[in-house]
Amino acid sequence: MYNVKILGAGSIGNHLANASRQMGWNVTLCDLDPAALQRTKEQIYPARYGQWDEAIQLFPAQEAPTGGFDLIFIGTPPDSHMNLAIEAIRENPKAVLVEKPLCTPGLERANELCQLAQESGVRIFVGYNHVVSTVTEKAVALIPHIGSTETLDVEFREHWGGIFNAHPWLNGPQDTYLGFWQKGGGASGEHSHAINLWQYLAHKLGAGRVTEVFATLEYVKDSFVDYDKLCLLNLKTDKGLLGRVVQDVVTHPPRKWGRIQGSEGFIDITIGSEDRICWQHGDQDKEEFVFKKTRPDDFIVELKHLQNALEDLHYESSLSLDCGLDTMLVVAAAHLSNRHGKRVMIDYSNGYSAKALTLDSSC
Ligand SMILES: NC(=O)c1ccc[n+]([C@@H]2O[C@H](COP(=O)([O-])OP(=O)(O)OC[C@H]3O[C@@H](n4cnc5c(N)ncnc54)[C@H](O)[C@@H]3O)[C@@H](O)[C@H]2O)c1
Repeated sequence: MYNVKILGAGSIGNHLANASRQMGWNVTLCDLDPAALQRTKEQIYPARYGQWDEAIQLFPAQEAPTGGFDLIFIGTPPDSHMNLAIEAIRENPKAVLVEKPLCTPGLERANELCQLAQESGVRIFVGYNHVVSTVTEKAVALIPHIGSTETLDVEFREHWGGIFNAHPWLNGPQDTYLGFWQKGGGASGEHSHAINLWQYLAHKLGAGRVTEVFATLEYVKDSFVDYDKLCLLNLKTDKGLLGRVVQDVVTHPPRKWGRIQGSEGFIDITIGSEDRICWQHGDQDKEEFVFKKTRPDDFIVELKHLQNALEDLHYESSLSLDCGLDTMLVVAAAHLSNRHGKRVMIDYSNGYSAKALTLDSSC
């Protein structure tokens, strides 16, 4: 049984608290804002999971216990993630799970976190939970049946009204990081699950890492907000795979979808209240698989993955720090590419900072 401390008693903090309790773990949940702790106990947790769980210990963040935790989960706004992750490593847990997006597009303290994680031996995971879902696992298992890879598309297009319905105490994007791309909000940060899933599938296709990004973003900027509502990316890997990612906060009804197009068939992934695969080999009939799930299940699956990764040191985790940082480099490259109207090249030998990104002078 693990002792878990969760920072941030908001939407994700509640999901992670519930999933941890389903795993039989001890939970300490902390928030800077006393109103968030009260909302958790009286509204969010009972409304989502039936009733409040008295075994969960609530603490104002300033009075939260330190040390003695196996796992520390960071479920706060993205612009606080790096500082809190670095502090969490100092408590010497077995692992830290940082929510997505791992940091802001400015990549502040990214190299420092990497170095500290290596030196301390504390495992860092990033909460891009779609890559550990059953539907993604099934898609990967089908890859050998569709021939060589032609292209890869992933779209997470979802109006963010749903997020604000789940946060009725917010009046809109101006009240939170969501309304500011530099704080990790906007479509590029909020729906970066799509970039991460593209990268994961490219890796599973043997296509390597993203080295070229050409992006077009549409920003909403006024005296209250500054965010991208639409983020279109053309991506190319070091092994030559060319594909596309679309993320937006305007599409309704939402469409969270991916296609692996092979020379002899395709695999379509649809993510929603239930997940689906539709795939076809050559002229054979299309086949469909439906994966029924509840929203809480998404996070229980994620925590089972974490447990497996901690119990077996050879377990390759697709939630690793490197994967989360690779995604942040693409997010940072997207803003740079849009600003200059040029392709951006990523050189991983320059670490996780702006130095890894250069404008393609040939276009
Ligand atoms: N993986 C997923 O599917 C998923 C789902 C929802 C949210 N998220 C991510 O989780 C993060 C938080 O999102 P949310 O919707 O839960 O936000 P939220 O606003 O509902 O909750 C964040 C909470 O963190 C608290 N907080 C801020 N700084 C803190 C600190 N230093 N210590 C303790 N508490 C602090 C705030 O008071 C707030 O209550 C974001 O990065 C978001 O993208 C991921």
